[in-house]
Amino acid sequence: MKKLIKNGTIVTATDTYHADLLIENGVISQIGKQISLDGAEVIDAKGCYVLPGGVDPHTHLEMPFGGTVTKDDFETGTIAAAFGGTTTVIDFCLTNKGETLKSAIETWHAKSNEKAVIDYGFHLQIVEMNDAVLHELPKVIEQEGITSFKVFMAYKNVLQADDETLFRTLLSAKEFGALVMVHAENGDVIDYLVKKALEQGNTDPIYHALTRPPEAEGEATGRAATLTGLANSQLYVVHVSCADSARKIAEARNNGIDIWGETCPQYLVLDQSDLERPNFEGAKYVWSPPLREKWNQDVLWNALKTGQLQTVGSDQCSFDFNGQKDLGKGDFSKIPNGGPIIEDRVSLLFSEGVKKGRITLNQFVDLISTRAAKLFGLYPRKGTIAVGGDADIVIFDPTVERTISAETHHMAVDYNAFEGMQVIGEPVSVLSRGEFVIRDKKFVGQLGAGQYLKREKYGANNQSVTTNLV
Ligand code: URP
Ligand code: ZN
Ligand code: ZN
Repeated sequence: MKKLIKNGTIVTATDTYHADLLIENGVISQIGKQISLDGAEVIDAKGCYVLPGGVDPHTHLEMPFGGTVTKDDFETGTIAAAFGGTTTVIDFCLTNKGETLKSAIETWHAKSNEKAVIDYGFHLQIVEMNDAVLHELPKVIEQEGITSFKVFMAYKNVLQADDETLFRTLLSAKEFGALVMVHAENGDVIDYLVKKALEQGNTDPIYHALTRPPEAEGEATGRAATLTGLANSQLYVVHVSCADSARKIAEARNNGIDIWGETCPQYLVLDQSDLERPNFEGAKYVWSPPLREKWNQDVLWNALKTGQLQTVGSDQCSFDFNGQKDLGKGDFSKIPNGGPIIEDRVSLLFSEGVKKGRITLNQFVDLISTRAAKLFGLYPRKGTIAVGGDADIVIFDPTVERTISAETHHMAVDYNAFEGMQVIGEPVSVLSRGEFVIRDKKFVGQLGAGQYLKREKYGANNQSVTTNLV
């Protein structure tokens, strides 16, 4: 059945205007002011923004990590994402040394294909580069549509890859048309600092931050940028947390290197002092890279405003406080790293960014949706509101106020890192390919309705789309 969204204000990364929008067969078929009803179901969006569905380029759903597995899987994680206004996630498919890439990808399909309620794609981790991996990479791109590879420069003896692997991944990505992503922290230096802290009896959560200094992130970011230039390749730095790293990215961009940077709401809103909360509550705030001294927040906001950082991902990687985070009681290095954020990413950026005058409304749309869709080969099918694009739509009330709480969130975890925080603006209804997933703040979607997305090669679809006004 056709759907007509009427009376709303359409907001894209470039434009804000009043128009109605017709959805047919899951795609946007008309945008204009005199669209004939023609039997369509009318959805009134008066007083609301009509936004492209959020594209979250950084999630870890049902991911084994730190001796446990992230609590939110493709069911609870994508439901929570939809409540928060996200209609596409790109999740990290982990690989093991010696395992074929094909087998790793099959594992991730098995986790997701009957559970996801919104569309999803995968990035692929490269933990080692050798002839077997090299042989599989073109197939991964052509057959699976996986056009981004992730290299961890940290988590020694677990996920960390060496510089040869990073460099060869950059060379291959250039050759085959993929984007390399890095977790940029110097894992060797951190490993040493962690051992020393524990030897000295420093076991509390705050030592997680103190053993992962900003210099370790800045150094790794600069190294990855230099190797990208040397390989004449392309790089996306995930979860930039501090000035040291943001400045390395800006510097490399000024030198003509094809490098992009993502930050996350936690680095924009929370800070290092949260790790000092009593009763081991600091463990709830253990992310890698760690939360930083508060002054870094202004640098990150400014980098988003001026385009030096281009996306805001969630880095959703949730663990219960009871039973998971507490694995690290008495040894901060055993606290599983990460937090629940998939649901609040969009609201936090709107409330803290747009409402506080730090970014414009159109920048907000670019940061939560459009830019990620472009960089990761989904645009213009995803990431904008244009005729011919998927009808992934968020009807967003910019006036409603709410308090973030684990009592009301839809993630599976037993706490919310933003507990008690007031935000303005909330998705009211969310559609994925023309079907309601959230309607009037209630879940009405279907498990398994989310489709796996084969993505275009890096740079293939950066063309602009025209909006055909009726
Ligand atoms: O602490 C974090 N960020 N956990 C998720 C894994 C990663 O490094 O992205
Ligand atoms: Zn990471
Ligand atoms: Zn991550």
